[in-house]
Amino acid sequence: MKLRLFVFVICVATLTSYSQTNSSVIVKVNQPVAQIPPTLWGVFFEDINFGADGGIYAELVKNRSFEFFKPMMGWTVQQKKFTEGAIQVLHRQGTNLSNPRFLRIALNKAVKGDIGITNEGFRGMGIKKDLRYDFSVLFQTAGNDIKLYLELLNAKNEIIGSSSMNLKAGTNDWQKQSVGFVANATDPKAKLNIWFEGNGTVDLDMISLFPEDTWKKRPGGMRADMIQLLADMKPGFIRFPGGCIVEGFDLSQRYQWKKTIGPVEDRQLGINRWNFEFAHRPAPDYFQTFGLGFFEYFQLAEDIGAEPLPILNCGMACQFNSSELVPVGELDPYVQDALDLIEFANGDVNTTWGKQRAALGHPAPFNLKMLGIGNENWGPQYLERLKVFTKAIKEKYPAIRLVNSSGTGPDGDRFDLLNSELRKMNADIIDEHYYRSPEWFLQNAARYDNYDRNGPKIFAGEYAAHADKTVSPENKNNWYAALSEAAFMTGLERNAGVVSMASYAPLFAHAEGWQWTPDLIWVDNLHAYGSPNYQVQKLYSLNKGTSVVPALRNNLPLSGQDSLYLSAVIDAGTKEVIIKVANVSAKAQNVNIEVAGAKKIGGSATVMVMKSDDLKAVNSFDNPDKISPQQTTLPLKGKNLQLPLAAYSFNVVKIKI
Ligand code: AHR
Repeated sequence: MKLRLFVFVICVATLTSYSQTNSSVIVKVNQPVAQIPPTLWGVFFEDINFGADGGIYAELVKNRSFEFFKPMMGWTVQQKKFTEGAIQVLHRQGTNLSNPRFLRIALNKAVKGDIGITNEGFRGMGIKKDLRYDFSVLFQTAGNDIKLYLELLNAKNEIIGSSSMNLKAGTNDWQKQSVGFVANATDPKAKLNIWFEGNGTVDLDMISLFPEDTWKKRPGGMRADMIQLLADMKPGFIRFPGGCIVEGFDLSQRYQWKKTIGPVEDRQLGINRWNFEFAHRPAPDYFQTFGLGFFEYFQLAEDIGAEPLPILNCGMACQFNSSELVPVGELDPYVQDALDLIEFANGDVNTTWGKQRAALGHPAPFNLKMLGIGNENWGPQYLERLKVFTKAIKEKYPAIRLVNSSGTGPDGDRFDLLNSELRKMNADIIDEHYYRSPEWFLQNAARYDNYDRNGPKIFAGEYAAHADKTVSPENKNNWYAALSEAAFMTGLERNAGVVSMASYAPLFAHAEGWQWTPDLIWVDNLHAYGSPNYQVQKLYSLNKGTSVVPALRNNLPLSGQDSLYLSAVIDAGTKEVIIKVANVSAKAQNVNIEVAGAKKIGGSATVMVMKSDDLKAVNSFDNPDKISPQQTTLPLKGKNLQLPLAAYSFNVVKIKI
């Protein structure tokens, strides 16, 4: 009798657990709970890891204006017969504050090969066969005409492209001269030789070489392959220019947008704070030329259909570094920079700053809607300064939505103070940052389920799952990190009613020049590929939908039960329900998905699957698509889809409704 009872209990228990783990996920497509903000999935750009100079900014000459800390860094001098003083660095004391240095070369009946300079590029120059390269220089030569011979050399010192130009002697004014020439071979590690011929002196500045194939073929523009990867994501917004770069090591090094617009030779170079931030990843040649400045960022946002989200310094230098503060009573110039930026972006062409925008070639406004005040700032000192900015900006531009910092992490005293004070201040948008372990992402997928729907919106402004210590070479963009982010993002999507924006960080890294790992997109001088994390971001962004709908199993969202994470949206435009499911288990599983509330549904589902049994798997230059979505089609039975989920997989299911 006792044995029978035991067997009965076991059977019931087994059946109950079987029915629980195998009951359907019901997706109620006729009960939208929140609209998906068009900005939900965006990108975070910062000049870190040689993301701008040496990255998307396609300039190939490093230290083109001799303004690096060491004026000849990146350059070597070639002299057949050494002559003391033949090459000098001059400094225009007081007459040119933004670009004071230039190079003077004294020639004594020199012929080609006697005297020259060589630029090494940013860890070499990436040169492509049959592509035109545009060389330009600012020069002045008082006495005689001087001839310049240009040579592109490959890593074996063979000439793979050449040209020449005559610099006419004339007035003592600076003039610009350009010449284009085609390379006859590809090399990732080329360099540029400039030989001088003639008699007398020649002064040179802004020595520049750009490939012809920049983004939208803009002269002096951006690297098209890198921008294409962004455009392919169709990001809802682009945040720029950072990141800690906004704050600077100290206030003198803060990012100042007004110094980044107008003629490139007038944009005052600054040291990049990532130059010296990490002792084990020093980058002494990392400076910001600002060739890529605020006008170009706005233009980029427009090109790729993303809302611009500039972040401005709030009178505080980086609190991990100098922690310098502008006294609250002296914030006016900083606040004025913010007000002027809004006018620069949106003002009529008759306003002071709107006129400047028009003069740069963009009379139409950029339609700026959001502005970040401070980056990762914290403490009462941040709140004090934020209040001053908020008052001034809201008075003049009440429609601009302000992004406020909640500090460096998603919890702890720093976060708690700011989170509660910002809510009392009725903040528009609170920026949360988390660089945490994959396990943290899995455990926190439901983080926003109970956030106040009527309070500030949330911007998950910087996040990434870190498989190892930040800045460790072992901290890879591996599949486990990407899968845990995919799982976590079901929680962001499900809570799109409160989370209005999210961006992975950082965006770009040069394989030979990085300071911070992991990063979304990896590049060398000729190639760029998206990490598995990039593929996850892209899947979310391209399948954003227009409204969140309930997707419940046993009346609960799937957020970790049986290692499954699931969210669903409908797309009113394409008339689809889109379901995202991460299976973070070593075992394959099946889920039954029931599409409820649709009059009619398609007979099949399109499923995009990212998977790997190897959680350490990564994409690479040799195998850039190793972990990327593969598409299949599955039949539906009536309103039901039996969805097989491979072990360690992320799945995006689309069904016509
Ligand atoms: O994304 C890298 C850095 O992380 C950012 O510059 C900063 O905001 C954060 O600490």
